Amino acid sequence: MKILLKTSLFHFISIFLILSCLISSTNIPPKKTSKKINNNNNNPDFSYFASTLTTFSNPAINSQNLSSPKTGQNKALVLNKDCSVWNRACSEEVLKIANENIKWIKSVRRRIHENPELAFEEHETSRLIRKELDDLDINYRFPIAKTGIRAMVGTGNAPFVAIRADMDALPIQEDVEWEHKSKNAGKMHACGHDAHVAMLLGAAKILKARQNHLKGTVILIFQPAEEAGNGAKRMIEEGVVEDVEAIFAMHISHLLPTAVIGSRSGPLLAGCGFFKAVITSKHGLTGNQHNSVDPVLAASAAVISLQGIVSREANPFDSQVVSVTFLNSGDELDMTPKKVEFGGTLRAFSSTSFNQLLKRIEEVIVAQSKVYRCSATVDFFKNRNSIYPPMVNDEQMYQHVKKTAVDLVGPENYQVVQPMMGAEDFSFYSEVIPAAFFYIGIKNETKGSIHSAHSPHFTIDEDALHVGAATHAAIAERYLHDRDISIV
Ligand SMILES: *[C@@H]1O[C@H](CO)[C@@H](O)[C@H](O)[C@H]1NC(C)=O
Ligand SMILES: *[C@@H]1O[C@H](CO)[C@@H](O)[C@H](O)[C@H]1NC(C)=O
Repeated sequence: MKILLKTSLFHFISIFLILSCLISSTNIPPKKTSKKINNNNNNPDFSYFASTLTTFSNPAINSQNLSSPKTGQNKALVLNKDCSVWNRACSEEVLKIANENIKWIKSVRRRIHENPELAFEEHETSRLIRKELDDLDINYRFPIAKTGIRAMVGTGNAPFVAIRADMDALPIQEDVEWEHKSKNAGKMHACGHDAHVAMLLGAAKILKARQNHLKGTVILIFQPAEEAGNGAKRMIEEGVVEDVEAIFAMHISHLLPTAVIGSRSGPLLAGCGFFKAVITSKHGLTGNQHNSVDPVLAASAAVISLQGIVSREANPFDSQVVSVTFLNSGDELDMTPKKVEFGGTLRAFSSTSFNQLLKRIEEVIVAQSKVYRCSATVDFFKNRNSIYPPMVNDEQMYQHVKKTAVDLVGPENYQVVQPMMGAEDFSFYSEVIPAAFFYIGIKNETKGSIHSAHSPHFTIDEDALHVGAATHAAIAERYLHDRDISIV
């Protein structure tokens, strides 16, 4: 996941300010707006402002009556162990297999942690995964997008459901002294992708053990280059989700206590993009102002006008960011420059808002340049893979994650989380098929696993790993069970 610290701080401060503002003005009747603010027909979800971290108190909410039979758990354990219908006993079985493999899952994570590899260079990581899959007698396709793997467990026939892990590390020097510290200078698994791979392999082992119960096929996607290079996009282009009905992915979180599962309905992570504008004019001496045009003035006007997009055109309940982060017109003191360059970043929580930002940024820069008789081009680096769509959870897939997790880890270990301004390339899958993204906590103050991802001090509480493996496996297996039941 791409963490965007400054912006997310800004975002949380803005939420706080907006909320404080709302609270202090509750007596003032809201003004009626006659003007339609969003020029689109979509109905974006702004509910993320309403909830704080809430623990579910009612596990039955939106969960199928299959999971908690009223006739008593023990009876269900005995009667339905074959899992022809998903029930609590199936969750117990999945957890039991996970528990038997705690040591192995940890060892996988540690081996990967010692040997971190950057985007599209995950050769040894990929080799390790294939070796484990061979040992488990699981078939796979390789290579996909250089180092990627697509493994299969189940009947080999439809329906297909996918679970995904990313494999790449970060260009960060590990600053944690421990037995399994990174052996590669300047590289570190500081975003937990080592844990993601270990949990997905754990799920592979659980699913293999339960192969006879699978009512279809589970696709396990080991993806390169999440942090840089849009590995997800490459994997999709090479067909990994062909015929796949739904996809799920998990990310470790230092905000949730160990083994607590968290997610939310709707927007979870922001769409992220960058832009660079070049404003050009005829060259001219300052002494001869009327014969020249001034791109510095045009750029200044454009930078000011860009501020109006979020503050005056966007719905204030729909968080967005447009920031100009650099401006360059050279360093001549007696000449009007021929061109001025500037650029920055944009964020939004829905594709509609994101695309609207792209459109308006270009329009504003080009139009303001024209006012001052300059011309402008705006580059959004679309070819350089630096645009990430927002991660918006599909409602049905989110409900599936929630009911499966609550059934597996208990309602006290499930939390609804706040959206973040960070970005994640899993959103590319969500543009193609129904998808849900969720977190597993690794925070343990006693063990010191309290640092945010992308920190050189980042550590995880490995006691979450087998729970993560079980959650992945249960989500996939249960999807194949419940897909015919309409989820409320
Ligand atoms: C809930 O239970 C009833 C009665 O046992 C059953 O008929 C129904 O199919 C179940 N509902 C779902 C959604 O499984
Ligand atoms: C954190 O680790 C300590 C020591 O191993 C353990 O006793 C405690 O239960 C852990 N806390 C959580 C939230 O897992």
